Amino acid sequence: LRLAVLISGSGSNLQALIDAIEGGHLPGVEIALVVSNKANAYGIQRALQHKLPVLYLPWRQRSAWENKLHELVQLFAIDLIVLAGFMRILSAEFIEKYPRQIINLHPALIPDGGEGETYTTSDGTVIPVFRGMHAPRQALEAKVSVTGSTVHYVIPAVDAGPPICRREVLVAADDTEESLQERIKLVEHELIVEAIKEHMRQTR
Ligand code: GRF
Repeated sequence: LRLAVLISGSGSNLQALIDAIEGGHLPGVEIALVVSNKANAYGIQRALQHKLPVLYLPWRQRSAWENKLHELVQLFAIDLIVLAGFMRILSAEFIEKYPRQIINLHPALIPDGGEGETYTTSDGTVIPVFRGMHAPRQALEAKVSVTGSTVHYVIPAVDAGPPICRREVLVAADDTEESLQERIKLVEHELIVEAIKEHMRQTR
């Protein structure tokens, strides 16, 4: 399974994938390409340190960017596109070319099916589904006691595709947006690896 990992920032989830592959925990998986839309993304350094092919593709105009990515996906024979902290929205036109071949990591709980507006946690509490850029902040503002992270297949609706796997994270009384985000990230580092394994099981 040849991955293209798309990043915009720190790339700690990219690192989790690199570590899992180097540690032999993802047999048959290879990071064939890393793409960043930000020149200063720390994830670029991580890719370079591990001698992975990495490209900075500046985002000026969406369709031009997507055409470039589409070419790269063919050229590098990519099987799965992983959005790991990639902070741009891809068009429906692009996404529809890759059914169940793009996955996204989202720091909130997305219900089965992907599109519902509520999520029922393991203790039976019904919470709203926090979508978009500020999900941990929204979870704090809504005063929920449980949030989490989901890896899901990407569909045109943002942060709404069918989940592959997800994990709950408890919100602490003294959590700030940063502390909650960091705790969610720790869970994500395992979840992203688990999601790739699950995807392989489902597509075998
Ligand atoms: C993660 O929390 C992910 O859920 C969100 O962006 C963050 C990326 O972190 N979409 P990193 O760049 O992998 O460290």
